[in-house]
Amino acid sequence: MNAIEVRDLVKTYGSGETAVYALREIDLTVNAGELMLLMGASGSGKTTLVSIMGCILSASSGSCKIYGKETVGLSQKELPAIRLENIGFIFQAFNLFPALTARENVEIALDLKGVRGSQAKRRAAELLERVGLGGKLGSYPADLSGGQKQRVAIARALAGEPRIILADEPTAALDSESGIVVMDLLKELAHEKDRAVIAVTHDNRILHYADRTVHIEDGRIGREEAAMPVLPVSTTGSIGARQ
Ligand SMILES: Nc1ncnc2c1ncn2[C@@H]1O[C@H](COP(=O)(O)OP(=O)(O)OP(=O)(O)O)[C@@H](O)[C@H]1O
Ligand SMILES: [Mg+2]
Repeated sequence: MNAIEVRDLVKTYGSGETAVYALREIDLTVNAGELMLLMGASGSGKTTLVSIMGCILSASSGSCKIYGKETVGLSQKELPAIRLENIGFIFQAFNLFPALTARENVEIALDLKGVRGSQAKRRAAELLERVGLGGKLGSYPADLSGGQKQRVAIARALAGEPRIILADEPTAALDSESGIVVMDLLKELAHEKDRAVIAVTHDNRILHYADRTVHIEDGRIGREEAAMPVLPVSTTGSIGARQ
């Protein structure tokens, strides 16, 4: 089954003369197990699209199915349940609670899933270990690097065992080295347990991570690229010749 299936999706903000047509008849399928990058100029509609896919924004018309379940037309009461069951979010600015430790930031998300007390403590530690932060359980966000903060945010996103992870410019605030660690992690997560990961990016440095890159232009799907081939190392050049 497709993780996400979007058909004729339209989103208009406002109405009448001031209406903004943010998405115009978008068709897009995201497969389970793939890391899809979504690129496009500022204002092209990327955040709007992932917000609808993530059930935090209602579409104006069309269809958006999450693992076969239609979400367009659902009420503001029904959407959060689908989000909680299927979606993990990661943001450019990390959005961690500054007064809480790494572990407590993850525990809060577990609480939403009904996991509390010692079970939540144990599970939060496991999730932080999973993202390579087993030694930082008691650290506050202010004492972590940008890359470490983003990894806490990924651990938090994993708390609900989501089948879909949506990341809006996850590496934009990171140096290249931390960006690589975060993308390596997102790619691993996409490929394990058939989880779909969609990352919005302006960052050309991370393009080679994509199983597929989709460009969005002025609210429409533009060109689409399959995985970029990793350039073969020359067998005759100096690198290939090295034994
Ligand atoms: N809440 C809102 N009310 C009115 N217009 C909005 C709202 N949110 C977004 N828009 C408009 O919808 C269009 C798409 O915005 P969106 O934030 O989805 O773009 P984006 O591709 O994520 O841009 P960026 O790369 O700058 O983050 C833009 O024209 C924007 O001004
Ligand atoms: Mg945006």
